[in-house]
Amino acid sequence: MAAGHEVVLCGRRLEPLELAAAQLDCELVQGDVVADPEGIVARAGPLDHLINNAGVFQHQGWADWTADTFEALFRVHAVAPALLSQAFARQRGPGADRSIVNIGSTLSVRPVVGAGPYATAKAAMAGLTRSLAVELAPRSIRANCILPGVVRTEMTDAPRDGDDPEARLRALADLHLVGRLGQPADIGSAVLWLVGAPWVTGAVIPVDGGLSLS
Ligand SMILES: NC(=O)c1ccc[n+]([C@@H]2O[C@H](COP(=O)([O-])OP(=O)(O)OC[C@H]3O[C@@H](n4cnc5c(N)ncnc54)[C@H](OP(=O)(O)O)[C@@H]3O)[C@@H](O)[C@H]2O)c1
Repeated sequence: MAAGHEVVLCGRRLEPLELAAAQLDCELVQGDVVADPEGIVARAGPLDHLINNAGVFQHQGWADWTADTFEALFRVHAVAPALLSQAFARQRGPGADRSIVNIGSTLSVRPVVGAGPYATAKAAMAGLTRSLAVELAPRSIRANCILPGVVRTEMTDAPRDGDDPEARLRALADLHLVGRLGQPADIGSAVLWLVGAPWVTGAVIPVDGGLSLS
């Protein structure tokens, strides 16, 4: 239970799911959103809201780009959210307000070197959000997208090309107008607001401490 919502968490690895479940009172579905989007939604049960948060980052400069990297990142950030949303929409017809929140990235509007395939896939996710808003409005489903700045998580704390993550993160913090990196709760509060905002659909909203303006 989080802020009055019953939550179902999904991921491929059981251990982090169980750790999260120990902190939040929530249900778990272990699975891969790329391999089995329909099965995951079916196992999650009837849903009022879908948060497409699964993501992977791959650091790759232009000279190393491959079709495989682009395809892998598109699958997790665009294709899987599209098919999860489709399965979610099919769960029931028009009625009470439901919504989809896609977790995009500031990098889709403010790219940096080494993030080309990721930034491109996240831009596709923002485009998908607008299509979902148009397609699913007749089913009483809204769709919105948050563009987070740099938030401290497993993703940002992992070394990139053997760098020192602490030094990289200190430099990145300075690029945020509010003078600090994000915390997961900064994104969580925006998700909660969108879920409860019945007149907001098709919005792509930076939640980035001002990173996109710096
Ligand atoms: N942290 C940032 O600075 C930042 C900034 C902008 C946007 N974002 C976006 O925010 C979202 C959350 O990222 P995070 O920072 O929390 O990263 P994270 O700590 O690496 O978490 C990513 C989550 O996605 C799950 N996941 C990845 N691929 C999956 C798949 N195929 N099927 C099911 N689950 C999958 C991972 O679990 P398993 O590995 O167990 O599957 C993990 O729980 C991502 O979409 C990311 O792109 C993050």
